Amino acid sequence: MVRQAGPLSSAAMNTVERDKLARLTAAELDRFARAHPRSGKLHEQAKASLLDGVPMNWMSEWASPFPLFVAEASGASFRCVDGHDYVDFCLGDTGAMAGHGPAPTLAAVERQMHRGITHMLPTEDAIAAGEELGRRFGLPLWQFTLTATDANRFSVRLARRITGRSKILVHDECYHGSVDETLATLDADGRVIATDLNIGPPVDPALTTRVVPFNDVDALERALADEDVAAVLVEPALTNVGIVLPEPGYHRALRDLTRRTETVLIIDETHTICAGPGGMTARDGLEPDMLVIGKTIGGGIPAGTYGMTEAIAARVRASLPPRADVGGIGGTLAGYALSLAAIRATLGEVLTAEAFDRMIPLAERWEAGVNDVIRSHGVPWHVTRLGARAEYHFRPTPPRNGAEQMADADPPLARYLHLAAMNRGVLMTPFHNMALMSPATTATDVDRHTAVFDEVVAALVG
Ligand SMILES: Cc1ncc(COP(=O)(O)O)c(C=O)c1O
Repeated sequence: MVRQAGPLSSAAMNTVERDKLARLTAAELDRFARAHPRSGKLHEQAKASLLDGVPMNWMSEWASPFPLFVAEASGASFRCVDGHDYVDFCLGDTGAMAGHGPAPTLAAVERQMHRGITHMLPTEDAIAAGEELGRRFGLPLWQFTLTATDANRFSVRLARRITGRSKILVHDECYHGSVDETLATLDADGRVIATDLNIGPPVDPALTTRVVPFNDVDALERALADEDVAAVLVEPALTNVGIVLPEPGYHRALRDLTRRTETVLIIDETHTICAGPGGMTARDGLEPDMLVIGKTIGGGIPAGTYGMTEAIAARVRASLPPRADVGGIGGTLAGYALSLAAIRATLGEVLTAEAFDRMIPLAERWEAGVNDVIRSHGVPWHVTRLGARAEYHFRPTPPRNGAEQMADADPPLARYLHLAAMNRGVLMTPFHNMALMSPATTATDVDRHTAVFDEVVAALVG
């Protein structure tokens, strides 16, 4: 979710005139503060009871001087407490990819609330959810959690348990939630270190983790050669440092190397579900041993899941201790009834194949509109799209890996663009320049973004 930028490359520095950017940003900050007195007041009041005036720290890190307080949200839009309406391309950083309050999810959740929210016993919805996940991702057996973070943590624990190996391998600049082993990066000499944002790591991540650049088959081969890596945990395309797509053959090599070294391959589809109903796994014929997905599958109700092959399941069964519930996997509410009702309705009736057939062309429209603006103003940027998600980057060509992408991140420029968009009724995903389509998003929403983007880029370079 949150990426931190390094020093600006010369390409990024040259894109815009810095004094002008500072002047424009100051004017947008002023405009935001004047238009949102009620949000400002609530934020001041909140500081008395909430750390930094927000219920979770990253809510204070938006481009605006204080966060928007939401009055209500529906479909692909929301209204703030000052009465302004926004087209929402952030969609709760994928948590609301199904749209805000999709009717089938609301109905199922309401029904379930009257039947018991949690019982520590299964409901029939769990079977329907498991079967649907199996159809989509091709893995037969599933377990449920409340978050994608937990689904990743549990998968990693199981992989260590069944392989008897200690290490985990991830991509540089990855994000898989607050999983200790994954908050690692490479330093300039290629050594594994904790990320700058790693708060209180329990141990040095170099002890637990190998890190390789995305799209680097040689590095992958070297990192797996000792056969001490329990699992490779990857997003099939990076989405949390901006979108970085796999090069042809990368996933084939990853699968071959993990098979050859008997390393468990875990694919995290939490964001890449945007590629289609079965994510990149189904679209590109990937063959993970385990698969994780969270956030959107519950339509906003806490939900995460991990699936596995029969072969992995057999090894898990053979290795589980008698009281697995207190062995580092589980949670009292994991797999609870409300969450399963929400997953069944959201996957079964909202994020359907037909919905993707509408969402993906909308992302193509968004991509085409942004490309036109980039071309007409002659800025050296480009757009990358993955299914229903698209993003512009401050570099002329697609990055090969996370480090390349970070080299051209430009936080002051991004701040201006995000803030100016907010002031004109468009919310982008914070920390990078990403837009996600929901089943409720319309062509008018997309065209609104294109018009706003054109206006604010024109102000910058005109
Ligand atoms: C790919 C990926 N996996 C896992 C997570 C963690 O999700 P959650 O914060 O819901 O646990 C995220 C969050 O952004 C993510 O992008």
